[in-house]
Amino acid sequence: MKLVFATNNAHKLEEVANKLSGSIELFGLNDIGCNDEIEETGITFNENASIKSHHIWNKYHLNCFGDDSGLEIDALNGEPGVYSARYAGGHGNHAANMDKVLEKLKSETNRKARFRTVISLIWDGEEMFFEGTVEGTIRHERSGSGGFGYDPIFQPDGYTITFAEMTMEEKNAISHRAKAVEKLVAFLKDKQPTP
Ligand code: IMP
Repeated sequence: MKLVFATNNAHKLEEVANKLSGSIELFGLNDIGCNDEIEETGITFNENASIKSHHIWNKYHLNCFGDDSGLEIDALNGEPGVYSARYAGGHGNHAANMDKVLEKLKSETNRKARFRTVISLIWDGEEMFFEGTVEGTIRHERSGSGGFGYDPIFQPDGYTITFAEMTMEEKNAISHRAKAVEKLVAFLKDKQPTP
């Protein structure tokens, strides 16, 4: 069975493909010849994930899913949220995004935050959502050089190190994305014929 992940991010595709087994074959946007710029115009993670999955379903009528993730900081009323990638302006300027967060939280004692991932799956025309979160706190300074995005300033609860100080395996064992993907994969397992 064919399943399209509405992304061109090779790491995300690999993470899901590694967890899928059996008869489901995963394709990215490039693999199906889709070069469309799918704009994330939603104001919630669900909306953005849904925009991506509906784009593929409406155009190709293939089972598919889209995802959207970001950081929610309690003291900033959930910011940067869906604007995580472009919080400081330009898309994907992680250094400037972190500077903006640290500046806004300069004299804030409530450092509670979480990463959230939402996946919108359209299976046989029916939409379903899968969600994963990881709770933590925002450090006062960056620490670590691994990962991407806000990893150097995010310390997951129960740890004394940031995401950027973890190995990829450690982060993937507890991350928001991994939790959402696990739920998706658990759902898809039932869709595969037993060997
Ligand atoms: P995306 O929807 O997975 O592309 O994530 C959007 C943005 O949220 C990224 O550009 C990052 O700024 C932030 N983000 C999402 N997941 C992570 C993560 O695991 N670590 C750090 N930042 C993340």
